[in-house]
Amino acid sequence: MKGVILGISGGIAVYKAVEILRRLSERGIRVQVVMTAHARKFVAPLTFQALSGQRVITSLFDPQNGSEVEHIHLRREYDLLLVAPATANILGKFAQGIADDFLSTLYLAWNKELIVAPAMNAEMWRHAAVRRNLELLRERGVRVVDPEEGFLACGDVGAGRLADPVRIADQALQALEKTGDLCGKTVLVNAGPTVEAIDPVRFLSNRSSGKMGYALAAEAARRGARVILVSGPVSLAPPAGVEKIPVVSAAEMGEAMDRLFPDADIAILAAAVCDYAPKQAAPQKIKNREQPELRLELKATRDILAGLGKKKTRQLLVGFAAETENLMDNARRKLAEKNVDLLVANDVSSRDSGLESDYNRVTLLFRDGSSREIPRMPKSEVARAILDAVVSLAAAPQGGPAER
Ligand SMILES: Cc1cc2nc3c(=O)[nH]c(=O)nc-3n(C[C@H](O)[C@H](O)[C@H](O)COP(=O)(O)O)c2cc1C
Repeated sequence: MKGVILGISGGIAVYKAVEILRRLSERGIRVQVVMTAHARKFVAPLTFQALSGQRVITSLFDPQNGSEVEHIHLRREYDLLLVAPATANILGKFAQGIADDFLSTLYLAWNKELIVAPAMNAEMWRHAAVRRNLELLRERGVRVVDPEEGFLACGDVGAGRLADPVRIADQALQALEKTGDLCGKTVLVNAGPTVEAIDPVRFLSNRSSGKMGYALAAEAARRGARVILVSGPVSLAPPAGVEKIPVVSAAEMGEAMDRLFPDADIAILAAAVCDYAPKQAAPQKIKNREQPELRLELKATRDILAGLGKKKTRQLLVGFAAETENLMDNARRKLAEKNVDLLVANDVSSRDSGLESDYNRVTLLFRDGSSREIPRMPKSEVARAILDAVVSLAAAPQGGPAER
């Protein structure tokens, strides 16, 4: 039987957690309730104990906690941690790693899926500290069920009201049902551009938005994979359930990919890594127009895809080829030379797809010489088609019919 830990922190919406608990229990989910000391000021634990059929955990040092260290034991026994309502305080403690009660200590020991459903006054919800803490949690792959707009208990009107308990419970049920075809796999994705410093304020980069890589990461997570997303600077929020590693330069991206690759089952290299970087970044801002001409000396960056191609053992390696001319010739050469299993070729010269666009039009090239055209469609659907191909290659012996 699947199990959920329902963490309840001290906001006016504590009473709504009753509805979440009931809905989960009705679906046959075992629920262990954990309440903070302040949550208990709003509703007595007895209500949750009666409905869950289990003692409510209220303290780190409760003599009634089992002989095992309870917050470690729970991690083994349960599949999902759902915190609803999540106060500004508990979000801050999670984000900053403060472990001064049972729920915040459990968070640090928790290595499985986490969903938080914040609820608070609209002013608190807008506060920069709360925004930053949520951003940090999202970057760590925490799913956030955003609050709704409406009348708040404090008399204000605005965003901050706990999302509908039915919606929260359904998100938890959905997360539990993740029995997708990538369950148990670790997928490493890189995305976005890299940024190469010229001096402290200027840089070289490219027009990659990161949308394709982020769509791939989201789709892999939806299919049940553990997803690690190494991302250059982009303005996108990381997809739910994805662990993001932010990087800036090609060198940093290469270092992160090298480090994470040995533990990956599948690596998808969708980032637009700069091929050249300034030989040396100027330590001070280069003075404006002091010289009539300025020569920048560039050096080639390391080829991350080729490096992983040489290192790969069991991993399935997916590369991208963004070209503006001779697309197929260049892509086929890249496929062979870099020891990749699947190459996604996209013509980035057209304006209605590719870089910056929400759409893409690609051709999938396989090692056995076959190819598949994916017509212009939203990047989320292109991601689905690419991962369908990845899953079928992963299922085939040796990652596909092609010879190595
Ligand atoms: C009547 C009342 C209602 C509150 N409602 C909320 C709320 O909805 N959201 C919130 O973040 N804090 C709320 N607070 C403040 C929290 O209870 C307070 O920050 C507390 O330290 C949270 O502790 P906890 O996160 O350990 O449960 C409320 C406080 C009071 C007195």
